[in-house]
Amino acid sequence: MKKTLLTLFIVASLFTNVRANEGMWIPMLLQNNEKEMQEMGMNITAEDIYSINNSSMKDAVVLFDGGCTGEIVSEKGLLLTNHHCGFDWIQYHSTVERDYLTNGFWAMSQEEELPCPGISAVMLKSMVDVTEKILEGVTRETTNDERAEIVKNNMKKLKEAAEAESDYQVVIRSFYNGNKYYMIYNEVFKDVRLVGAPPSNIGKFGGDTDNWVWPRHTGDFSVFRIYVSPDGKAADYSEDNVPYKPNYHFPISLKGANEGDFTFVFGYPARTNEYLPAIAVHQEANVIYPVSVNLRGKILDIYNKHQEKDPKVRIQYASKHAHLGNGWKKWMGVIEGINNFKGIQKKKDFDKNFTEWAYKSRQRGAYLNLISDFGNVYAEYEPYRLATTYLSETALQIEILTFAAEFSALAQVTKETPQEEIDKLIADAKEATKVFFKDYYQPIDEEVAAMVLQEYIDNQPKDFRPELLNTIVEKYPSVQSYVDELFTKTMFTSEENVNDFLDEFKASKAKKLAKDPALMAYNNVMDFYMENVRPKSIELNNQIADMQRVFMRGQMEYHAEQNPDKMMYPDANFTLRVTYGRIGGFSPKDAVTYKHFTTLDGIMQKENPNIYDYVVTDRLRELYESKDYGRYADKDGSMHVAFIAGNHTTGGNSGSPILNADGHLLGLNFDRTWEGTMSDLIYDPSICKNISVDIRYVLFIIDKYAGAGHLVNEMTIVE
Ligand code: ARG
Ligand code: ASP
Repeated sequence: MKKTLLTLFIVASLFTNVRANEGMWIPMLLQNNEKEMQEMGMNITAEDIYSINNSSMKDAVVLFDGGCTGEIVSEKGLLLTNHHCGFDWIQYHSTVERDYLTNGFWAMSQEEELPCPGISAVMLKSMVDVTEKILEGVTRETTNDERAEIVKNNMKKLKEAAEAESDYQVVIRSFYNGNKYYMIYNEVFKDVRLVGAPPSNIGKFGGDTDNWVWPRHTGDFSVFRIYVSPDGKAADYSEDNVPYKPNYHFPISLKGANEGDFTFVFGYPARTNEYLPAIAVHQEANVIYPVSVNLRGKILDIYNKHQEKDPKVRIQYASKHAHLGNGWKKWMGVIEGINNFKGIQKKKDFDKNFTEWAYKSRQRGAYLNLISDFGNVYAEYEPYRLATTYLSETALQIEILTFAAEFSALAQVTKETPQEEIDKLIADAKEATKVFFKDYYQPIDEEVAAMVLQEYIDNQPKDFRPELLNTIVEKYPSVQSYVDELFTKTMFTSEENVNDFLDEFKASKAKKLAKDPALMAYNNVMDFYMENVRPKSIELNNQIADMQRVFMRGQMEYHAEQNPDKMMYPDANFTLRVTYGRIGGFSPKDAVTYKHFTTLDGIMQKENPNIYDYVVTDRLRELYESKDYGRYADKDGSMHVAFIAGNHTTGGNSGSPILNADGHLLGLNFDRTWEGTMSDLIYDPSICKNISVDIRYVLFIIDKYAGAGHLVNEMTIVE
């Protein structure tokens, strides 16, 4: 009896106790964690990290280009982020003659720094709790639909009023699934210039092969600089702009990332779902991810086959491969991790305990049937989610279909459409055509098309198939014969034909365009989705969101009863967060242990001139052979490249500063370990580790490899 009680307690506490090393905390509320952080070794205060009145570390962290994090490291607005975060801009500035992706790029003076039109760096100025104002008018009697309306209106009012009084961007975000709201004031920098990037075989060393895996040897960094108007304000690009003088910049530590040391990561985690019921996690991990993994795996096989045969194709499909492959590989890790960790069972145990707790008090009526209601709604949702997944992972992976879609507006032109508008559409279509054919290889697309359409037909019930697929089944001898016809008859496989068509385009040709089989196929599939899948999906999704809000509230009450001292942290939602944990290796499975750092020796061990991901340049080999590491060497004499720690991070945290007990920069976060990829759904501190590139390797590459030591001279170095 005692034993069962004990196990029950352990299982329950596993989910209700927020353990040290776990959590993505709101910086404004970091006072709550200060004691624990200091007990773990931190030498600074919560106020040093986030202060509204004084300059603090938050003044040196930005949301980089809408999806990553960057940090300021000099008085002149110098900014570090990952190579994979700056990738698009490095590619944007590359040409065949100046191939910065392959060879790297270094501005040797500020004049050589390259403007990036459309880029942004967003800096949080302050945030306020506006929950009461947003929920004003919501009562116990308010229905879910009414509530949604009230929240929407209050948000709009509040945002507009705040914007009228401020030069800053104002955003209001929901936390804890709509149980709390914060209003955030941001400064948005738009003149951010590319300063430097290592060659891809350093910045992306290990490529997709090593992605999501430890041990890792990637020099995943790039360098930018924020510029502002001469009076110091965020401004659009202008030649007259000057380097930004920040309120704070991070000092850089050369003392290294040592086992057991306290660290924290400050950045912009995008999305996590750690408070879902078991049924939702099951659906994600056992129903949806396997479909995506299977389909993407087959597409990637086709890419690989052709990429291996032809170096030109390898480059053309590099970015597409990285994009598809990142999710594909991560989801495999999630499925495996949840299985090994018995994640679904643990979630079920929690759901059961939660319901039992709810039964004990009549006050908690709202929670009593939640878990079983979730079961019903998720069951109803499943075929719609599958339908959406099949659509996006099959039909929308056929490149000529999505390319044809860019001509949709042109296909709807009539005699009444003003010529000006038509000209604009033609110009856009021409640009899209250029971009598309630069990286298009028809044999891949044909093979992908035949494969995905067959999968779609084989795996989706008739009612969930667009008409096109049923036509293929009924009217064509095989999927292949349809694909052959599609690729023969469409004009979208030939750059010349498309351009000729655009050159001669008149309103009277719109009808012909609309009849192109690729555009017809695209429209057929999308119309089906819009009419038969999307409305119901939205309805169910809203229903789930309302239930999840109640479930979250319940979990917070449940948690507060058992852990009055420690708050629960909200899921990631693209807002600034702090997470902390110790540096250290771990044991992913029986007999296997990982050290906490990798070195340049490991790069040389992986080196293989015949495998694209493992090419090492002569220059790096020379530096390795002469051991010319200068002050960037570790005290053990080697060059440390990457390290792992127990920080709770996710997508969007890429590029985040990882800081030591004094708040000095130790490295740049860029990934997680394979065993811990499940952390967006279930976090287990014993296996969920974040991977960072060692700042000493970054400086070594900038200084010794690239000869851009002037950049290091700008920084504040702590030896
Ligand atoms: N897995 C990391 C993240 O989710 C890194 C992705 C970029 N690297 C790559 N080899 N694709 O963004
Ligand atoms: N690689 C991710 C990113 O780009 C980080 C992660 O998922 O751990 O944000």
